[in-house]
Amino acid sequence: MEYVIEMLGIRKEFPGIVANDNITLQLEKGEIHALLGENGAGKSTLMNVLFGLYQPEKGEIRVKGKSVKITNPNIANDLGIGMVHQHFMLVDPFTVTENIILGSEITKGGKIDIKTAEKKVSEISEKYGLAVDPRAKIQDISVGMQQRVEILKTLYRGAEILIFDEPTAVLTPQEIHELIQIMKTLIKEGKSIILITHKLKEIMEVCDRVTVIRKGVGIGTVNVSETNPNDLASLMVGREVTFKTEKIEASPKQEVLQIKELRVKDARGLPAINGLDLTIRAGEIVGIAGVDGNGQTELLEAITGLRKSENGSILLNGKEIRNLSPRKVTESGVGHIPQDRHKHGLVLDFPIGENMVLQTYYQKPYSKGGILNYKEIYKKAKGLIAEFDVRTPSEFTPARALSGGNQQKAIIGREVDRNPDLLIAAQPTRGLDVGAIEFIHKRLIEQRDNGKAVLLLSFELDEVMNVSDRIAVIYEGQIVAIVDPKETTEQELGLLMAGSKRKEAGEKADV
Ligand SMILES: Nc1ncnc2c1ncn2[C@@H]1O[C@H](COP(=O)(O)OP(=O)(O)O)[C@@H](O)[C@H]1O
Ligand SMILES: [Mg+2]
Repeated sequence: MEYVIEMLGIRKEFPGIVANDNITLQLEKGEIHALLGENGAGKSTLMNVLFGLYQPEKGEIRVKGKSVKITNPNIANDLGIGMVHQHFMLVDPFTVTENIILGSEITKGGKIDIKTAEKKVSEISEKYGLAVDPRAKIQDISVGMQQRVEILKTLYRGAEILIFDEPTAVLTPQEIHELIQIMKTLIKEGKSIILITHKLKEIMEVCDRVTVIRKGVGIGTVNVSETNPNDLASLMVGREVTFKTEKIEASPKQEVLQIKELRVKDARGLPAINGLDLTIRAGEIVGIAGVDGNGQTELLEAITGLRKSENGSILLNGKEIRNLSPRKVTESGVGHIPQDRHKHGLVLDFPIGENMVLQTYYQKPYSKGGILNYKEIYKKAKGLIAEFDVRTPSEFTPARALSGGNQQKAIIGREVDRNPDLLIAAQPTRGLDVGAIEFIHKRLIEQRDNGKAVLLLSFELDEVMNVSDRIAVIYEGQIVAIVDPKETTEQELGLLMAGSKRKEAGEKADV
């Protein structure tokens, strides 16, 4: 067997933690090799070792059979190794081409030859079906396109081996589909790929083999054709994982949220919510299903007070909360697990402990006479960290240092602890591994069973189908159907989401 990369017995330590302990990964030429592990398992560390960003304490790296020392990313580049990082490293006001040539400029008589570079970028883009405009500014293109610029950057430098660090975490389902096609093209053109992910569906769909690591330790490598999602999940987390979310039948009580004839405009002033009706009762989870861009964001922003609405009413326990300030909405009994946990969920530079009281810090006992009582704040935080299994070295660690799953658990702990009547969970498991997803689903169902009304927004149809008691399909700013997840299929939902089928008026009555 010809291996293009061999990482043998790699060990990498950080102060107080062994991030990689005796890990072996062998990449065959022309394969897509998944690197699977929970958040914090050591995947990025291992790949950063391969890319020359970290030096291992032990182990050997071979490229095409030859032992090498990769002491910095330039050496990795020279060896044909390119990496598409989880957080893009692009300069916003620069064009695509300017970003791609940064550090490897072609010069002509001492001046940067941008024309030649643009042409080359164009050619590569075409060859691999990337459809990137070489002259577009980074700030004007979508996240999916920015990722393609990162891919182009590695190809421009002649990469033969591409490392993708959780590339689909930031993408929409449509963009994920396109990326998978791009990866297949890359393989056809002779490249080899290491794909870091914890999405089992993606592994089953595109990968040839998978190497599993758990808590820094290599568990082994298996052929995708000889495994299944259940086995992979238990290899990854070290115990059986149930995919079917266990729950008893819902017993909905009084109406908690009543939205009537709501109208909201989007950031450009165009109508986004067009007379939307929706009711959620105590003790039920209503999932919103829809193609991204049909008003989901505006709906949640309008309920939580982040966006002004034009018309209609939003009643919480019979009281109007429409166009109240976010703080007033929160105080009325709404908990919010926001879509963008970095922008709206956490203050990343604050200790995780202080993040646990972001909504309540100005109240007793956390504050008295305008002075914060840190003893009380950290006491509370410590309790929540334990209860919600937030894995962090301490309550004083900056939120930024926690893995995505643990950041999310902290937000959920904080929101649930305030005991809101309505809990809004927007993409609560985005980017998380199966263990964390299971934990979060259980917590949402627990809230339901405690008599809360839960509004779930997710772009993962599996999640909407599994967790919801009723599914509200949103299309062009209206709820066009309410379906029972037990009686529908992904196909039917897909049709409803595409607006091609409307439930009749009679059925709409129980919206
Ligand atoms: N630069 C660093 N300094 C200290 N600890 C780190 C650093 N990078 C990662 N870690 C720790 O090493 C472990 C593995 O992290 P990482 O490789 O990022 O995991 P994964 O990519 O699988 O989510 C985690 O416990 C993380 O907190
Ligand atoms: Mg990582």
